[in-house]
Amino acid sequence: MKLTDAQLEQFDRDGFLILPSLFDPKEVEAINAELPALFAEDRVDNVREKGGGIVRTAMNLHARNDVFAKLVRHPRLLEPALQILDGDVYLQQVKVNAKEAYTGEIWQWHYDFAHHHNEDGNPLPLALNVHLFLDECNPFNGALWFIPGSHKAHDGRNLAKSALDTETTSYELWTVDHETVGRMIEAGGIVPAHGPAGTVLIFGELMVHGSPNNMSPWPRHIFSTIYNPISNRQTTFKRPDWQHGRDFTPTRPLPDDCLRERAA
Ligand code: SIN
Ligand code: MN
Repeated sequence: MKLTDAQLEQFDRDGFLILPSLFDPKEVEAINAELPALFAEDRVDNVREKGGGIVRTAMNLHARNDVFAKLVRHPRLLEPALQILDGDVYLQQVKVNAKEAYTGEIWQWHYDFAHHHNEDGNPLPLALNVHLFLDECNPFNGALWFIPGSHKAHDGRNLAKSALDTETTSYELWTVDHETVGRMIEAGGIVPAHGPAGTVLIFGELMVHGSPNNMSPWPRHIFSTIYNPISNRQTTFKRPDWQHGRDFTPTRPLPDDCLRERAA
């Protein structure tokens, strides 16, 4: 699947791209059918919310489940990333971020490169985060928020200052201070990433984003894979491989109907 020139321009200008309903309901259903068993597993790569035992993010899913092993190579996720990036990519991180009804907790304002550079030694902010909504994301269930243009609002080569927050949630995150976020929002505003299940979202390493608590009765699950060019691979290995993959073989697309075999 190829992005159009207009979509590529929009991605460059805003720093993110929302592609509504790229996967059909049957495909989403086939993916969602795998989640209860995966979320029920008691293992370290099921990271739980600070405020209780509910799973916040289930990681390493391509190594745990056949449907997710296909999904990371799905052409509607992988081909746009290969089009934007230069050269072959590896699977840096694969997960479903959950925000269960009433309990799903915040992701603070951050940009991913702060984490990937400081924790993993990724040399450059090149990786792409590609999401697939497994539920509708609406104004109430903890959708992601973006600051359009924030990927270009860092001060030249000096990236916005970021600090490791080990307190707010169960998942340590390099976050951006409120003064900087405020300045970026003055310039770019906030755009929420809403859309039906099956929507795909693409954003880069310098895009400032976050998401509020889910106070609604509607769960919000989002599949996410981070594709990083192999030439930009991690240079330090302090995080486990379920947080940053170490298989640096090129990821190749499967046929477009790879999920439908199972959904039929
Ligand atoms: C979220 O799942 O709401 C945020 C995750 C991210 O930072 O990509
Ligand atoms: Mn992020």
